[in-house]
Amino acid sequence: MRPKQVIYMVKDLFDRIKSDKGPLGKWADKAEGYYVFPKLEGPISNRMKFNGKSVITWSINDYLGLANHPEVLKVDGESAAVDGMAYPMGARMMSGHTKYHEQLERECAEFVGKEASYLVNFGYQGMVSAIDALVSKDDIIVYDMDTHACIIDGVRLHAGKRFVYRHNDIESCEKNLKRATKMAEKTGGGILLVSEGVFGMRGEQGKLREIVALKEKYNFRLLVDDAHGFGTLGEGGRGTGFEQGVQDGIDVYFATFAKSMAGIGAFFAGDKDVVQYLQYNMRSQMFAKSLPMPMVKGALKRLDMIRTMPELKEKLWDITNALQSGLRAAGFDLGTTETCITPVYLKGDIPEAMAMVHDLRENHGVFCSIVVYPVIPKGMIILRLIPTARHTIEDVNETIEAFTAIREKLENGTYKKIAEAIMTA
Ligand SMILES: Cc1ncc(COP(=O)(O)O)c(C=O)c1O
Repeated sequence: MRPKQVIYMVKDLFDRIKSDKGPLGKWADKAEGYYVFPKLEGPISNRMKFNGKSVITWSINDYLGLANHPEVLKVDGESAAVDGMAYPMGARMMSGHTKYHEQLERECAEFVGKEASYLVNFGYQGMVSAIDALVSKDDIIVYDMDTHACIIDGVRLHAGKRFVYRHNDIESCEKNLKRATKMAEKTGGGILLVSEGVFGMRGEQGKLREIVALKEKYNFRLLVDDAHGFGTLGEGGRGTGFEQGVQDGIDVYFATFAKSMAGIGAFFAGDKDVVQYLQYNMRSQMFAKSLPMPMVKGALKRLDMIRTMPELKEKLWDITNALQSGLRAAGFDLGTTETCITPVYLKGDIPEAMAMVHDLRENHGVFCSIVVYPVIPKGMIILRLIPTARHTIEDVNETIEAFTAIREKLENGTYKKIAEAIMTA
């Protein structure tokens, strides 16, 4: 006998959305406007306004301090006045192409030591779309477990097999390359390995040298998302591939303009034929409007400044070294960072973390990002600091003092009591 088929009433699609706001959305009532969607006001700088008070700002990826550099503001403003925010209209392929887009592509490629590059409007969408374009259903993707959401979403689009390896674990990476090789021998496809140059949460560099060395044993192509390495690492800020001396082993190099370049947009760089393939197959660019001219002319200016003003990167690293060595000397655990990204690891639950960050912002004038469960394991808190070339040694010293004070209160249970009082009020 065939089992009876259950017939459900068709629900209103929004019933679920109204009752389950999602893992982060469920905190909206308590956190919105303060812990999430905070409003930092005033010009982007080392000190900005939050809740009407001046705070040392450690949460902005303006690594080289270009966001409000007078020369940058001048070029951005002039282009907005002359070209407007619309030009060029349409997708690159149809009517949105200009000689400036081409020039920026040539200069980005040359800067990162590749034959060619292609612009995308947003790094996130570009990465999703590039992964989608690079692999067919017979190909296999091997990727690091801790990669950025844009890589995960690109992998989600893949109709074929994928293997994930333990974060920055080369043994696990090789094991999965072996599995991928066996699988590709059956499907007749190839292998794409995806890593980040710098992992944005914990600040570790991807093990690019070891990954590239695996090319001796396995046949794969390497795509590297260097969002945080571009401008901050390697000779002249040319990125993590240069830092580790393996840029030639990276087949497709990606960097966004949203961090060191303090703008919007991103690019993929590699051999001419691969870049041309992306140009004709990345759906996020084929079916979307071209990058507006102020972004393009602004990016040309910023790139020129990165090339000609090495002191910006030097200043960034002076501040980074002062901040990290000062925090370590004060007994803080910064984990395994080897870049500017400075995570401070503490122990506590979410209500304690909220009380602590409130104290840090209101009473110590320090604004940084806070990372808690479910992004990291329960009971762990990361306060994440992003140094920039705009910060000063005074900012560093005040911050270390503030961190020392809040750690004492965290450890003696002050924040637990505050959190309990709020919860029961
Ligand atoms: C590692 C990484 N990749 C990609 C992106 C996305 O770049 P965009 O802001 O240009 O979309 C980010 C930004 O947060 C990132 O950190």
